[in-house]
Amino acid sequence: MNEGEDWVYSEKVKDHFLHPRNFLMGDESKFKYDAVGLVGNPICGDQMKMFIKVKDDKIQDLRWKTYGCASAIASTSALSEIAKGKTLDEALKISAHDIDDFLGNLPKHKFHCSILGHDALKNAIENYRKST
Ligand code: FES
Repeated sequence: MNEGEDWVYSEKVKDHFLHPRNFLMGDESKFKYDAVGLVGNPICGDQMKMFIKVKDDKIQDLRWKTYGCASAIASTSALSEIAKGKTLDEALKISAHDIDDFLGNLPKHKFHCSILGHDALKNAIENYRKST
């Protein structure tokens, strides 16, 4: 981390970290999903699992769980709101920068955390397409 770099989280990041949307609490079998994605972050080793329910080629609903940090939790919470209702192709186009913009910017050295949920969603969509 560079000297003078901002350590402050935006209000939106704090809100999504403290009140994560679409977080899968407890037993995975309670959420009826069509496909799951699982990825690890090569930078820190944290993991993310993403569960998607698909109808008419759209993400009807989704849930996620992670061992990731506060930034990963806030980012994936934001991603889950952005992705819901999108077609699979639209969801694949959501970038880590879209998530960062939605949250009002993560600290630069935490940007890599936003990639975790993004990659898990991509993996879930790939697995869904392989299974249908
Ligand atoms: S430090 Fe691992 S996801 Fe943020």
